[in-house]
Amino acid sequence: MSLLEVRDLIAGYGPVRVLHGVTFNVDEGEVVVILGANGAGKTTTLRALSGMIPAKGVVAFAGHSIVGWQTDRIATAGVGHVPQGRGTLSDLTVHDNLLLGAYSRRDRAQINADIERWYAIFPRLGERRMQAAGSMSGGEQQMLAIARALMSRPRLVLLDEPSLGLAPIVTQELFRTLGDLNREDGVSMLVVEQNAGLALGIAKRGYVLEVGRIVVSGSADELAHNDDVRRAYLGI
Ligand SMILES: Nc1ncnc2c1ncn2[C@@H]1O[C@H](COP(=O)(O)OP(=O)(O)O)[C@@H](O)[C@H]1O
Ligand SMILES: [Mg+2]
Repeated sequence: MSLLEVRDLIAGYGPVRVLHGVTFNVDEGEVVVILGANGAGKTTTLRALSGMIPAKGVVAFAGHSIVGWQTDRIATAGVGHVPQGRGTLSDLTVHDNLLLGAYSRRDRAQINADIERWYAIFPRLGERRMQAAGSMSGGEQQMLAIARALMSRPRLVLLDEPSLGLAPIVTQELFRTLGDLNREDGVSMLVVEQNAGLALGIAKRGYVLEVGRIVVSGSADELAHNDDVRRAYLGI
């Protein structure tokens, strides 16, 4: 049984249908990437999975059907979400953002240990712990958004274009950290990304989404050698 099983997922906005029956899965411990052009429905897919928009079809997480669940119930069940364009509260300090990420946890000592661990992983957050999140650079806010989502200790984290707006060097560092987290903590990840090269570098498998439908699937290696994928997403 997969950690996340998605079958015939249909979702959209009001009368406008964006996803026309999307099927994929993420196994425990895997990093899975969804590639796709602007407007393909990548963000809509992640929103539907975390209950931010209504959806139809099968979404099973850890064996439970989560279709129709409220967003916070899905989060508490173990699905973290780093939305596109940062998921931080800009008026709150770095430290308070991290504490808020752990709101559903009760193990206070372990929460503090986790916060210190994030400061060690992202030293720039540690140096700015009392600074308002909104006053930091885009790269720093993206690191905070990821740390904040992982403070809930999710089994699966949904990452929506984590590299968007980041300098290439920061993006590389970020993907290295995501790869480490997956290997060391066993956090499963579903990554939506335009930077196909980096995403395929840490992914085990992937899918290509085109106008609300999965059109290609395969191992990261197969996708990296697929001519259509190379032309459309790798620029070669
Ligand atoms: N809040 C919204 N209301 C109406 N349509 C939307 C909304 N958000 C996205 N869409 C539409 O849904 C389609 C897919 O968007 P999105 O999931 O954001 O694509 P991607 O993340 O792959 O770039 C696009 O046609 C977009 O215009
Ligand atoms: Mg998007």
